[in-house]
Formats: sequence, structure tokens, C-alpha cells
Amino acid sequence: MLKPALPESVQSLQHANLSAEIESGLLSKVAYISPKFLYDPLGSHLFTAITLIPEYYPTNTEKWILMQYQEEIAAAIGQHGTLIDLGAGNCQKAAFLFPSLNPTTYVAVDFSAQYVQEALTQLQFKFPQIQMMALSMDFSEQLSIPSSVPSAARTFFYPGSSIGNFLAPAAEKLLREIKNQVADGGLLIGIDLMKADAILESAYDDPLQITAAFNLNILRSVNAQLGCNFDIRDFKHVVKINHQENRVELYLEAQTEVTVSWSNNSRSFQKGELIHTENSHKYTTDSIRRMLNQAGFDKLKIWTDPQNYFALVYAQ
Ligand code: TRP
Repeated sequence: MLKPALPESVQSLQHANLSAEIESGLLSKVAYISPKFLYDPLGSHLFTAITLIPEYYPTNTEKWILMQYQEEIAAAIGQHGTLIDLGAGNCQKAAFLFPSLNPTTYVAVDFSAQYVQEALTQLQFKFPQIQMMALSMDFSEQLSIPSSVPSAARTFFYPGSSIGNFLAPAAEKLLREIKNQVADGGLLIGIDLMKADAILESAYDDPLQITAAFNLNILRSVNAQLGCNFDIRDFKHVVKINHQENRVELYLEAQTEVTVSWSNNSRSFQKGELIHTENSHKYTTDSIRRMLNQAGFDKLKIWTDPQNYFALVYAQ
């Protein structure tokens, strides 16, 4: 069951909200653009390319854990439930779980509805017995699963350490919202662990520069959304590791003095001035426990890889 397109009135309302959101970020003292604008159709494909880069360890490591422990994971979760995939993207990781979990229903939730629908159409051919639906939702604002989704035996699947892209209060809010809608089910969440700077630097600034292209593409994405005139060539992809906050920070740095304008406003950047696009927090098993406990999950099972790069957690 694929979701019908939204009515035009809703679409234009969303468009206005998104434009206002971009505008307020660009006009802030330290400019920022919400990372959700990374995932336009081109950005979604570039991110899929990132997951294939050997230096980008999160995807491969998480897949290794999923493969290695699939039986234990399936035993913890149980079969024939509803799998709700938050930020489903190309739906590949969830499809990985299908053979062991045998879900009755699969709900692919993503901000970028177009990309996820393409993936779902293909997946439905391979797994005709699973009832599938796509939900276009910005769950970073609010998570609300419609009542048409079965409420028993729900498993929320939140892989890729996307939780690490939120600041602590927003992460806790989302985890609480999940807890409130999970009933007797649970949350299967992938969380990235803190590690040596050199490994983080090459994961977030890879030698093929696909990550740079992915980050810079956000400017093309906001040009289309807001109608502004960023020139991608004026900016450079920059990665910083913030040890106080335990996170990788992603920026775009102006290479020259630039003024960007749109409808009735503009923003000037000095040479060297930064636009913040993403935080990627890194955790320890202790900080993971604290975060999930605070959100109301008290039963946790944690699987990791031999190098302790990444953790997969089932929380109830
Ligand atoms: N959620 C991913 C992460 O934090 C997103 C990501 C990977 C990303 N590389 C990036 C975001 C580069 C911005 C720029 O690992």
C-alpha cells in the first residue's frame, strides 16, 4: 500500500514552513542548515554512495552486527510483528531483517518520500507476503504513527546512528515518543561509538570526496527550496571533532567573501565563515545506557563488533 501524494494545499504549506526554516538558519549569527535538507533525491543517492565507501565504517559495521547476531536479535524481538523503519532511505537494512523477523507489516518512514517509495516498490516484489507502506514524515519535529498501523508487536528500527544527529534534549524527546508508541514491542537502534580521531576524520572526509559532495549538495537543495543563489564552488566541506561534546561536526566554509540572496533577504559570509550542517554524536556503552534509561527504556540488550566501533541495541 503506497501512500498517495499529499493534497496541493498541504504541499504548499509544507513548502512555506521549510523555506521559513532555512531562512532563519541562514540569518542566524552562526549560520546553519538543517541536515534534513541533505537528503533531496541527489543527496539520498550520494548518501547511499557514502555507505559503500570503505572508510565510512558505520554502515558496514552495523550490517556485520545485524548479520552476525541475526538469530539472537530475532529471538529478542519475536516474529510476525510490525517493523517501523525510521529514516528508511533505500530500505536496505530493514530488508536484511526480513528473513529472520518475518514481519507482517513494514512501515518505511522517511522525510524524502520520493526516494523511499521507489525502494519500497522494488522491495514489495521480493517480499510479496509483507504488507508495506511508506510514510512521509519529519519525525525530527514529531513522531506520530497513524492508528492504521497495528499497535501490537511493534518494533521501531532506527539504524545508522541517526539518533546521534540530534542534540541530547531532542534525542531524548524522540526516544520518549518512540517509547510512548511502542506498546509491548521494542526499539532496535544502531548507535556509533567514540573512537580515534583519524578513523572519524577519514569516515567524514573520505579520499574520493563523496562526503564533501554530499555535504555541498545541501546548498543545491536549499537553492531549490528557498530560491537562493549559493554557488557550490564558493564553499568547502570541513570536518571538526569536538571532544567536549563527543561529536563530529560538519560545516561548509566560505572560500571567499560571498553574499547569498533570495526573495527579499540576503546573507553575507566572510572568507572562512562557516555554515553548520550536521552534528554526529559518538557514544560509549555507558552513555547509551544513560540516554535510553532517561527516555524510559529499562531493559537493554547491546551487541557490538570486535573493534567496538558501533553498537546495536534492543531496548524495551
Ligand atoms: N547520519 C550520518 C552520520 O552522522 C550522516 C552523515 C554521514 C553526514 N556523513 C556525513 C552528514 C557528512 C553530513 C555530512 O554518520
